[in-house]
Amino acid sequence: MSTGEQRAITFYIHTFGCQMNQADSGIITTILRNEGYLSAASEEDAGIILLNTCAVRENAVDRIENYLQHLQGMKKRNKGLLVGVTGCIPQYRREEMFTVSPAIDFIAGPDTYRTLPALVEQAQRGARLAALDFNPAEMYEGIDPGRQGSTSAFVPVMRGCDNMCAFCVVPFTRGRERSHAFSSVIGEIRGLALSGCREITLLGQNVNSYLDPEEGRDFADLLAAAGHEAPDTRIRFTTSHPKDINERLVSTIAAHGNICNHIHLPVQSGSNAMLGLMNRGHSIEEYREKIGMIRSIIPGVAISTDIIAGFCRETEEDHTSTLRLLSDVRFDSAFMFFYSTRPGTLAARTLADDVPEALKKRRLQEIIDLQNDISAGIYRAEIGTVVEVLAESESRRSSSQLMGRTGTNRVVVFDREGHEPGDLVRVRITGATSATLTGEADLA
Ligand code: SAH
Ligand code: SF4
Ligand code: F3S
Repeated sequence: MSTGEQRAITFYIHTFGCQMNQADSGIITTILRNEGYLSAASEEDAGIILLNTCAVRENAVDRIENYLQHLQGMKKRNKGLLVGVTGCIPQYRREEMFTVSPAIDFIAGPDTYRTLPALVEQAQRGARLAALDFNPAEMYEGIDPGRQGSTSAFVPVMRGCDNMCAFCVVPFTRGRERSHAFSSVIGEIRGLALSGCREITLLGQNVNSYLDPEEGRDFADLLAAAGHEAPDTRIRFTTSHPKDINERLVSTIAAHGNICNHIHLPVQSGSNAMLGLMNRGHSIEEYREKIGMIRSIIPGVAISTDIIAGFCRETEEDHTSTLRLLSDVRFDSAFMFFYSTRPGTLAARTLADDVPEALKKRRLQEIIDLQNDISAGIYRAEIGTVVEVLAESESRRSSSQLMGRTGTNRVVVFDREGHEPGDLVRVRITGATSATLTGEADLA
């Protein structure tokens, strides 16, 4: 630990990418704090800046490269400043990462965060080191991610992914799929609930293929136990893979009032030809059947999805099948992307990236326009209803309003009427756009 004479070194983490990276930033924070480093309030106050990065799409990588240029400028003004790049980009680019920017002092992949204090020390002596080993045994057990007292928390239940979807880098950046022990996940949930946490999101790239390494219990068992252990806490989970969602899991969601009625179920495309080339492991008919099954078991459930426009060999007909799927299913919301080839993936090795960029963008825009219309219709239909919202923060526009989410994961901005973040508030919905509901706390 630092002494009074020596000023402690502070660090600041910028987190990019998915919730798994956000959870990992909590782990990194604890590892550094345990060695006496202190969290800085902003990047300007920090002696060490870490970028915890995402490699999933081309634009994610471009963003980091721009950011590193900015940090290079900061380093000219602040000579002692250290910059580390962690997460999926260095794991993917390996030592080549150092050539991206002279600003980088050290790099570390998702399985090596326990070595960060040593990397920092070496960097202070001028060494430029990489820690990029995969370690399937690394689950960061015993590292308290420091969430006590927070309203919402992520709880990773597994790491890695074995699915090998043809377009995706995640299996290359995160390594083999492995699950946390059931007892340790439930212990964590119990602790969070006792400390007043109001919302817990169980995390995995492929959360519903969870398999307890000790007693073989599956994700439905885990979800049921989570719902039971934390009866006053909202339980969410992401991301589910369509091929692994089954009736037992869906019935578990329906049976627990505190397990949120929202399922994020990425489909990627409405065309069987694309799903086959993408190696998703299911047909579009199977997907539609699962949507029917979910809706028959959980009335009022919100289903969201991810779509990729312009994957290899995508024809106008394939694209039309995606539009048709969106119109038929009427997803609550969707994350929509155009395909960007990721070197090393199955698609990059075996398929030509042959849809011209302008066409990818045109198709993506059609998908976005259609989905925005659908979301707007679904959100408009909420006007006049009263929904239960977990308040997360003050709204960006006004301190007299709060922002929060419904159990179905819809964002609501409402007049606070004395409520604070962390409160569960009944809100009367008075307005809607395609992405936000507005309303007022129901005083009745
Ligand atoms: N594990 C999650 C997805 C993780 S990546 C799942 O299986 O659903 C999040 C989303 O990014 C994916 O669902 C996909 O829609 C998108 N994505 C991944 N790789 C991509 C690529 N190469 N180009 C465009 N979008 C991509
Ligand atoms: Fe990527 Fe597929 Fe794994 Fe999701 S399930 S992380 S898309 S390989
Ligand atoms: Fe991105 Fe890595 Fe997550 S590539 S989506 S940060 S697992």
